[in-house]
Amino acid sequence: MCKADIMIDGKKLCEVPVIVDNMGGKSLDITNFRKETGYITYDPGFGNTGSCRSSITYLDGEKGLLQYRGYPIEDLVENCDFVEVAYLLVHGYLPTVKERKKYADLLNENSLIHPQMRNFFRNYPDNAHPMSILAAMVVSLQPFYPEIDLAEDPEKQMDLNVTRLLSKMRTIAAFTYRKIAGMEFVNPNSKYSYCENFLNMMFSSPVKEYVPNPIHIKALNKLLILHADHEQNCSTTAVRLIGSSEANLYAAVSAGICALWGPKHGGANQAVIEMLEQILESGESLTKIVERAKDKDDPFKLMGFGHRVYKTYDPRAKIARKMCDEVLADLGTSDPLLELAEQLEDIALHDPYFVERNLYPNVDFYTGIIFRAMGIPTNMYTVMFALGRLPGWIAHYLEWNHDPYEKIGRPRQLYTGPQTKKILPIEERT
Ligand code: SDX
Repeated sequence: MCKADIMIDGKKLCEVPVIVDNMGGKSLDITNFRKETGYITYDPGFGNTGSCRSSITYLDGEKGLLQYRGYPIEDLVENCDFVEVAYLLVHGYLPTVKERKKYADLLNENSLIHPQMRNFFRNYPDNAHPMSILAAMVVSLQPFYPEIDLAEDPEKQMDLNVTRLLSKMRTIAAFTYRKIAGMEFVNPNSKYSYCENFLNMMFSSPVKEYVPNPIHIKALNKLLILHADHEQNCSTTAVRLIGSSEANLYAAVSAGICALWGPKHGGANQAVIEMLEQILESGESLTKIVERAKDKDDPFKLMGFGHRVYKTYDPRAKIARKMCDEVLADLGTSDPLLELAEQLEDIALHDPYFVERNLYPNVDFYTGIIFRAMGIPTNMYTVMFALGRLPGWIAHYLEWNHDPYEKIGRPRQLYTGPQTKKILPIEERT
């Protein structure tokens, strides 16, 4: 085992083991650092800190590579559907025909939500953001399905718990849309596949039987696969941290939904479309927009651009970009926002500010265009991201709970507050 000497002022403080992971990633193991030296390390945003061991997803930010359980994302979107990828992320291998059928049956058996939960929707204001409803409804599954906590045989119960959450969150997402649109709920129908069912619950109407659109179904499967996992991003780290206190899966996923909502994270897909619509409406020059994004005194950022890890084109953005053309062409339509997005990308990728900082389109830059082409409203885009990310969150929650190395998450800090003070009697305070 290779070791690294940590020196201070030329004196050896300690030595720490060097770990090389399965793809050659190198790290210093500082598990006992504070105990041995009294020092902690400081890394705001954890950009240089490995929080766990994980075998679920590998990504290479420099090369723009992404693989789930060893399979490149490009192969998964072309050869699998979302249910297979959800199974892969949770179980660690692709399902056989029999295993996939069992999953599909469990998804169908568990797609309804408790009648009392349906009433919750009625009491939200019509302008509620769907992510607030989604987060609240997911954590509210626990009182209706308490066996998540009390499972005698968690392993045996796992497929039921996982498919129950995958299926019910899809129903909750569709019901959320129907509630905000002021439409009656449409129940899931077991004759449909996972994605067809979602689209049926979203768009069918009492007067017109839903006709599954193969283009939308294929695109939705691909989009959910693109979002299915992404290593230790902000919301997955939230799920693992909540899970580390042994809170139940619903509570952990609800926290993940809240973390994803932020515009710096999954909320960016909604922000991109709102940015493009605003540019289209204002007719502001794109060069001016890019200049604003570079201006430190202007809070405006080019949404859908930049990434903590990818310092090249996000491989998911490449796939989504190609899908925009395919979906729009298949539907025989076009979208002025796509043209705008491409022009913005072109200006930015030739601008030294973006080039020097390795700022490229990320997963959120083009996906909204496809959701838009499918008739999904802008405020539902991050809900779609959450639906895709759900199997990843579940896989990470289970991985943390099964890993003997893992403890409750509890980082340290650099204290910047006052030194110890004495309390003055109130009469003496000025
Ligand atoms: C997701 O982690 C994941 O894997 C997340 C995700 C997943 O699948 O889970 O991939 C999903 O969240 C994608 C990101 C979606 N967010 C956006 O598109 C919002 C716009 N992007 C930025 O807010 C930003 O790029 C972040 C938050 C994504 C990343 O921020 P970092 O890594 O903290 O980078 P930074 O803020 O330190 O930026 C470095 C420099 C700064 O300039 P300087 O101080 O060096 O002069 O780049 C600039 C930043 O100001 N910069 C941008 C910019 N992003 C970074 N300038 C203009 N526009 C931008 N979008």
